Parts: sequence; structure tokens; C-alpha cells
Amino acid sequence: MLGAVQLGLLAACVVLFVPMGMAGWHLSRNKMLFFSCALFITLAVGVHLTPYFPSISAFLSASEVIISTPAILYHDSCVLLLHRVVYKDVRECDVDSNFDDNESVCKRSWDWIRNGEVDECEFQKLKKSDASDLLNGSWVVVAGDSQSRLMVVSLLELIMGSEGVEKVKGDLFKRHSDYSVMVEEIGMRLDFVWAPYVANLTQLTLRYKGSKDFPDILMMGAGLWDMLHVNNVTEFGVSLRVLRDNVLALLPVSSSLVADAGGGGVSEPKASHLLHLFWVGMPTLITSMLNTAEKKERMTTAVYSSYDNELAGSNLLRQSGGPLLKLDIGLLSEFCGPRCTSDGMHYDEVVYNTALQIMLNALLIESNQKPQ
Ligand SMILES: *[C@@H]1O[C@H](CO)[C@@H](O)[C@H](O)[C@H]1NC(C)=O
Ligand SMILES: *[C@@H]1O[C@H](CO)[C@@H](O)[C@H](O)[C@H]1NC(C)=O
Ligand SMILES: *[C@@H]1O[C@H](CO)[C@@H](O)[C@H](O)[C@H]1NC(C)=O
Ligand SMILES: *[C@@H]1O[C@H](CO)[C@@H](O)[C@H](O)[C@H]1NC(C)=O
Repeated sequence: MLGAVQLGLLAACVVLFVPMGMAGWHLSRNKMLFFSCALFITLAVGVHLTPYFPSISAFLSASEVIISTPAILYHDSCVLLLHRVVYKDVRECDVDSNFDDNESVCKRSWDWIRNGEVDECEFQKLKKSDASDLLNGSWVVVAGDSQSRLMVVSLLELIMGSEGVEKVKGDLFKRHSDYSVMVEEIGMRLDFVWAPYVANLTQLTLRYKGSKDFPDILMMGAGLWDMLHVNNVTEFGVSLRVLRDNVLALLPVSSSLVADAGGGGVSEPKASHLLHLFWVGMPTLITSMLNTAEKKERMTTAVYSSYDNELAGSNLLRQSGGPLLKLDIGLLSEFCGPRCTSDGMHYDEVVYNTALQIMLNALLIESNQKPQ
């Protein structure tokens, strides 16, 4: 907050010296006092209003290098309300679809809870056209385990429609492999990186750091494999902290925003210049429904909460002062409940669709854009 301090000093000087200068111009002491007060009030009001005018704040913060994941964002009260959703048993059917069978086009419906606080945030379910505008020309990377892969399915379905996704599903679901697609229509590159362990996510961030080439949006998440195959919560915590340090090392890349703000031209959506970071949380596990004895034994509620605590304590998430905004699959899947899963771990697409819309709305807030 160097900028604010300097501004404060400048303001103090103005309040002090301008009236003194005027005294030199033979103003009476009363007039000088009047000017002094008027200036003080103007400056004070100005300083307090500044945060509400994004262009001024952007200009003022142009001297700071770390901008990427502004701490301010988490204090935006709407970000705190993004997960206030509810699932309904009625199904929503996509009437425009050409599909004959209703299974693939009818989805369990969800919505944000309609109450004053949440309403004021004007969250919107983005349709294909809104999402296309928002993601136009961007490079999106989703890295992690099968939960992250399901996020990719939701994203592709929104952008390309169900039919488009059917065509690529074969490649996307090749066991344990990466997948990459260029959506020509909007110039969006989407990479899915198979990275089941937290350590794999760290390797990925090192790769970006090395190549100095970064995606615009990076969604990642892991934990289930660490839980099942390593099963040592201490080690999990250590690897999360290593990941956090490496993600933080990536952050100054967003300095392109500084150039933009300094140039005064705010013609392009800023979304395409920032590194937006999200964490795909672990789903709620329903132990009795898990499909192997090993999973039932190792992925108990107690183990799950110890892993979750480790995550909270790692300062990786924005919620605890870290760089990544959590898409709380755990909470969303819990809301949806056992009726939304057949194996106690992978949930119906409505859960991931909700998480995707939460992500997109967070992007809108981050880039100061209001949906139409
Ligand atoms: C699909 O669902 C719609 C509305 O829910 C219904 O009118 C229609 O008959 C259904 N079609 C089939 C093939 O089941
Ligand atoms: C994407 O952006 C380019 C240029 O910025 C524009 O010409 C094009 O129409 C946009 N496409 C969509 C689908 O919004
Ligand atoms: C992920 O990390 C594990 C353990 O560090 C390693 O054995 C494995 O090869 C990595 N997998 C990928 C896809 O990088
Ligand atoms: C878990 O990992 C830590 C650190 O690597 C090690 O000291 C500890 O013995 C491990 N615990 C178990 C139960 O293996």
C-alpha cells in the first residue's frame, strides 16, 4: 500500500502548503482557515471515494507489481456469497436440443438462493454466448484428477453444446491422460492436465514458470489420490505448502495489467490479461457408496476432514489469505446429496455445472464486468 501512503503525504502537503501559499497572496487568516478546511474535506472525500471508482484505483495501484489475485476480491462480499445455491428435484430440459432421449438433455436444476443479500449480487447463469464473450481468446488450463476432468466436461458443454462434447468425450476420457482442444469459434484453448497428486500440480506450475508462458485461467485440484494411495495427512500438508509457494512464485506475471492501466486504455476485458486461479475442491465422500474396499477403509469421514483441515491450514486458498479461490465441490456435492452420485465420489454434472457458473461469476467480479 505504498501508493496510499504517498497519496496521504501528498494530501497533507497540499492541505498545509496551498493555504500557506495563499497567505502569501495576502489572504486573511480566516480565509486561509476556510481554504484549508475546504481542501481537507475535498481530499478526504476524494480518498474515501477512490476505491469505488475502479479506473482511479487501477491507476493508483499501477505502481504495485502484485496485482494478480487482488486481496480486495475476497473482501468483495459477493464472492463470499457465490456458493449460496440450492438444488431442486425438478429437472430442467433443454428444449432447443436435437437430442431425442430426455436423459441427456434434462438436468436436475439448481439456482442461487433468492434472498436480498444474494440477489443484490446479480449472479447469473451464463449462457453459451456470455461465456464465449468472457472466454474469447483465452487459454484455460484445468489440472487435477477426475473431479477436474468433470469440470472440463461442464465447460465444454457450455461452450460447444452437448453434441460437441459427445464427439470429444472419447479422447477426454482416455484413462489417465492429458487432453487439449482449441475451440476455433472463440479462439479458446483448453488444456486438461492429468495431475492426480498435489505433487503433480507443483510440477505443472514449475513448468509454466520455466516456460514463462501462462494460461489466463488455471483451475486445479487434487487430494483424493493422496488420500487413497499415500494416506499420510502430514505429507499432504507438506505438498500443499510446496504447491502454494510455487503458485505464489508465478504471480507477478500479471504485470500486463499494470501496463494496461498505466496506458489508460481499458478497451479489452482485463480478464484476458490476468492469471485467474481456482482450486477445485474435493467432493463430499459417501463412504458406504464407495466402490472398493480400499476406498471404504481409507477414505473415511475422519480422514476426509483431516485432509480438509490440512488444506485450510496450508494458506493455499483465498479463504485463508492464499492465491486460489476455492470452488467448493465438497459443499456443492453435499447440498446435492446421495441422490446425485452413484459411487459416492463422482457426482452428477449439475454439481460441476454449478461450480463452473460460480467460477464464471467470480471471473466477472474479478474483471469488473457486469453480465448483460
Ligand atoms: C421429453 O420431455 C418433454 C418435457 O419434459 C416431454 O414433453 C417429451 O414427451 C419427452 N420426450 C420423450 C421422448 O420422452
Ligand atoms: C472474439 O474476439 C474477436 C476479437 O477480439 C472478435 O472478432 C470475435 O467476434 C469474438 N468472437 C466471439 C464469439 O465473441
Ligand atoms: C505424479 O506424481 C507422482 C508422484 O510424485 C509421479 O509418480 C507421477 O509420475 C506423476 N504423474 C504425472 C502424470 O505427472
Ligand atoms: C507420514 O509422513 C511423515 C513425513 O514424511 C513421516 O514422518 C511419518 O512417519 C508418516 N506417517 C506414517 C503413518 O507413515
